[in-house]
Amino acid sequence: MKVDVLVDVQRGDCGKGKISKSLNEKYKYDTIAKYNGGGNAGHAVWIGDTKYTTHYLTSGIYDENTKIVIGCGCVINPKEFINEYNQFNEQFKLDGRVFIHPYTHIITDEHIEEDSKDKIIGTTGKGIGPTYSGKYARTNKRAIDIDELKPFLLPSNDISLLSNKRILMEGSQGWWLDIDYGSYPYVTSSHIHPGFAFTTFAIPLKNVGNIYGVAKIYETYVGKAKDLVICDPKDAHIIREAGKEYGETTGRPREIGYLNINDLATACNQCGVNYLYINKCDILEEVKIFKVIIDKKIHKFNNLVLLTNFINKYLRINTNIKEVIFSGTRDGEDLK
Ligand code: IMP
Repeated sequence: MKVDVLVDVQRGDCGKGKISKSLNEKYKYDTIAKYNGGGNAGHAVWIGDTKYTTHYLTSGIYDENTKIVIGCGCVINPKEFINEYNQFNEQFKLDGRVFIHPYTHIITDEHIEEDSKDKIIGTTGKGIGPTYSGKYARTNKRAIDIDELKPFLLPSNDISLLSNKRILMEGSQGWWLDIDYGSYPYVTSSHIHPGFAFTTFAIPLKNVGNIYGVAKIYETYVGKAKDLVICDPKDAHIIREAGKEYGETTGRPREIGYLNINDLATACNQCGVNYLYINKCDILEEVKIFKVIIDKKIHKFNNLVLLTNFINKYLRINTNIKEVIFSGTRDGEDLK
């Protein structure tokens, strides 16, 4: 069994759904599993002119031969999950190919109520923090305890019995929202690191394949710590509108920052990324803003080619990445 991991190396919303779908078209995974987070995540994928947004289901939905597994590092709101399943079942023929790990913790109305009191972090209000708190306080119910989820339970807690060839683990959120390594307390409540995919599914580390990183050519952040990203407010407004940078889950406007190249290199090194996708290059080309943050200062480039050449060179020198792939907003828009 070979396990690849897809991890966002910024603050979420970098286009993991799109990359996961295209990796599956190339490698035909048995299973695309989700290893952390819950309904706070939102994966958007364009097929033709239609945009599909999922919160629990992975990009496995787009291929009838791929199974989808929600791991026990995730938290799940049964009502939201079942609604999402019903929304996509007919079109994508999900019957018999969606599984939930029996140990996945359950988000309750009480957890959501507790989350609604948050005034500091700017959470998505989906009950994430209180549910992970309950997990560690050992007070929660798990998927195995919930009748409505019985039809979806993995037959055992061993994913290798379901899927023994090739698995893609799809991360939620992004590295700087990691509970330990992110900008605490402005983080989510789970681990983003690819290693957590192995912990969650109890898979030996020797099974690791490729670690695919996903970033954007600019940064975004949603939450209360507005100064985590740096950008001239005029540029931020232009990029936000061109890139339609509004949350998939909450609709909140995202804060915009120029790409922070030092943070990107650190994230790729810490997550062990060997292939990095940098999305949304078409947006900067459209608005003609070519700036990055290097050592906390803004540097300007004359065009997209000079900007991408710089990013590529910097990452080649400062990380172990084998290839950086510059891409657009939608499928099939890789820049040559
Ligand atoms: P929570 O995960 O709902 O507790 O929110 C904690 C922080 O993580 C907030 O700043 C959220 O905006 C952010 N966050 C959670 N999930 C996502 C995501 O999928 N994309 C971007 N930000 C997220």
